[in-house]
Amino acid sequence: MRIISTKYLLARAKQEKFAIPAFNIHNAETIQAVLEACHERQSPVILAGTPSTFKHIAFQDIYAICQSFAGTFDIPIALHLDHHEDIGDIRQKVFAGARSAMIDASHLAFAENIALVKRVVAFCHKYDCSVEAELGRLGGIEDDKNVSDMHAFLTDPDEAVEFASRTGIDSLAIAIGTAHGLYKQTPKIDFDRLETISNRVDVPIVLHGGSDVPDDYIIRAVGLGICKVNVGTELKIAFANAVKKYFTANPQANDPRYYMRVGMDAMKEVVYSKIRLCGSAGKLDIGSES
Ligand code: 13P
Repeated sequence: MRIISTKYLLARAKQEKFAIPAFNIHNAETIQAVLEACHERQSPVILAGTPSTFKHIAFQDIYAICQSFAGTFDIPIALHLDHHEDIGDIRQKVFAGARSAMIDASHLAFAENIALVKRVVAFCHKYDCSVEAELGRLGGIEDDKNVSDMHAFLTDPDEAVEFASRTGIDSLAIAIGTAHGLYKQTPKIDFDRLETISNRVDVPIVLHGGSDVPDDYIIRAVGLGICKVNVGTELKIAFANAVKKYFTANPQANDPRYYMRVGMDAMKEVVYSKIRLCGSAGKLDIGSES
């Protein structure tokens, strides 16, 4: 199996009312952990990297690792540019092999958001690269992005319809009450808004901020039309906590093959759990249209 464009994964997810989990990865170990778990559950997967991940390891190196693992694990894999804001940056990465990109212009006014997204779509579609864009604004912290509650706002359904049709995007990230990172209290998800948007917008709908959201909320959101669930923070916490615990119990330890494995196994538990909520286990026969 090779790396494929996200739209092939999301098309079937939308048709069959399940979601593809999108996991934020940072290095070879986190990619391997996600793929091991997805292979065990026979789940398609989106591996997502933010601009700051690609500062840590260059896109072409992550791409090469994923390409090689795609052969090892034989499951449909999409490698996604998460929260990219710069068209030049996206262009470079598409030339280097990216076939799935998010242009996040949610900080711009509606008309400017549309204008930038249209330019990205026009470029990416020449290369069979699918494009996700965001309307509304999620609060919370992700890498270098920090959006306060004051600046976060929910997606307007009328605008969502107009935005999707005028931009030609392949998927739409919406704000319905989730946030990036952990929550101070249980998030209030606007399921009515989700249902309205999902009934009126043709393209697959994406939920960001999938960490720390109660399980039944994710299941309900997927049932109402969410086709992609993004998860980052919970994976990092599981990995880090397991490694910390390992070093506390084994202060002399120094072999990455052991302490990394403990972190990877903890991360895999989160991946299993999100696959279950997304309903993506056993949905491997997608991507064949690519
Ligand atoms: P969390 O870190 O809250 O899971 O959000 C991840 C995300 O939405 C990536 O785009």
